[in-house]
Amino acid sequence: MADARDFFDPFWEDTSSEPVLKHHEENSKGKSEVSYSMPAWHEPPPSYETAPDSYDAPVFHEISSSKHARIISKPTVYALKPIGTSVLTIEGKGTIAVKSKATESVEFLVKTEGTLYPMLALKITKSEVVFSKKDGDDEETILKHIEVRAGGNLVTSAIAPSEGLVYWLSIDRSNRILRYGKHYISKRLTFAEVRLDDQTEVASLAPDARVAEGEWLEKLTYIETNEDGMPGSEPRIFRLPVTVDLPPLVVPNDMVSLRELDLATVTTSANLPEACQRLYQNVAGKGVALESSGFKDLALAIDKSVTTAGYWGHSKLKTKCNDPNNITDEEFQYKYLRVTIGLNLGNSPGIPYVMEVWPPGHKSVIHDHGDACAVIRVLSGKIQCTWYDALISGTDPNPLGPPVQLQKDQITWLGKNQYQVHALENTQKETCVTLQCYQFPKGDNVHVEKFRYIDVTKKTKEPFKPNSDCTFEEFCGYMEWEWKNKKPYPVQPTKKS
Ligand SMILES: [Fe+2]
Repeated sequence: MADARDFFDPFWEDTSSEPVLKHHEENSKGKSEVSYSMPAWHEPPPSYETAPDSYDAPVFHEISSSKHARIISKPTVYALKPIGTSVLTIEGKGTIAVKSKATESVEFLVKTEGTLYPMLALKITKSEVVFSKKDGDDEETILKHIEVRAGGNLVTSAIAPSEGLVYWLSIDRSNRILRYGKHYISKRLTFAEVRLDDQTEVASLAPDARVAEGEWLEKLTYIETNEDGMPGSEPRIFRLPVTVDLPPLVVPNDMVSLRELDLATVTTSANLPEACQRLYQNVAGKGVALESSGFKDLALAIDKSVTTAGYWGHSKLKTKCNDPNNITDEEFQYKYLRVTIGLNLGNSPGIPYVMEVWPPGHKSVIHDHGDACAVIRVLSGKIQCTWYDALISGTDPNPLGPPVQLQKDQITWLGKNQYQVHALENTQKETCVTLQCYQFPKGDNVHVEKFRYIDVTKKTKEPFKPNSDCTFEEFCGYMEWEWKNKKPYPVQPTKKS
């Protein structure tokens, strides 16, 4: 199991042991002929370039050995006034995304103001991904790229989901890196990247000459996208490139060491989307604990109730099965309690604060969170978290790395583009209690009120409306009564209660 401290890029770390974090204890423009738009699709991807990557051994593609050695016959004739053109907010920097149903090809073309060439091109087809620099109608240099993900489908899908797939291109003039990914705009969902300074014809140059070679990237601004050989939908533009993902573990700012700052193994709430910052401030305090509920044995009482036949908690879990009189282990293991705290404030999928109770061996299905932001605090026990790439009917989500174990008082987060798809599982012998907190991100005017999940049997994408098994007040009453009387609460839950 990965250590939560390894979150610089936890997905590529060894998981042979299962340490858990003891952080707190240890160190306590536009031209007139084109229409420009920069719609706010998502919040800008969080980014701060830090430590070098730690990926698995990359796969290098065959590349020409000298500049312009591979000359492509006359390429597509590109219109001087492309249809559906957008512009980067910052020259040579930003992320471009399109949602496409293409089955043959998706193409990004990025050029400099006032001239057609040099032009950056990224073409994704059914069989390959090609980055290139075009210097003329008959002159195209293929850029060497490395594949940085082992799972998932690098190329276009033969059958695109009805809602389309997101393809994105990140242009990073600061680091001279181009990245291509699908689904969420996140470093972890990068499929291929180009390091311009590592190109064979560039790497051997003197430093000054190498800098000059990359200058063409710095003025790239105008974007055209094509799908299946036709002009594509207008791309969405994000101000910053994809660089390094924020780690999933959030700690108080007075607990971050210089080493952690250097390696970016943890983050503070200040780096998170605004909605996550608000949620974190509300639940990170010492008082948010089972012990402060006024009933000191609450965690023990919960464990007893959900693991003992006849007790309220165990009975409630059974009522959540399709047929409480004919329950299989396979079905029962996916049941956990949702105890709501407070009211629905109209800015989250369901009630924003939910205490979830995970008996030993129980787990969730793989699900997203309706594009909402969230923070999750472990109140008791340990929970295993695994993140995935996307929810697409008919396909199995691909894990983005090994699972990570979170323990009491640790807090993790998720945003619209980060860690949005996950599954939780209690692999321990002790019941785990977590506090889930949700809020739609700033700028979300859609408010998907439902989570979505992949049905384990049918492999279809299904909606799930976040519900409430009971209120926190009711739940504490049941638990305290059972603990003090050493027998099941006299009024048993029914399927509707
Ligand atoms: Fe979740």
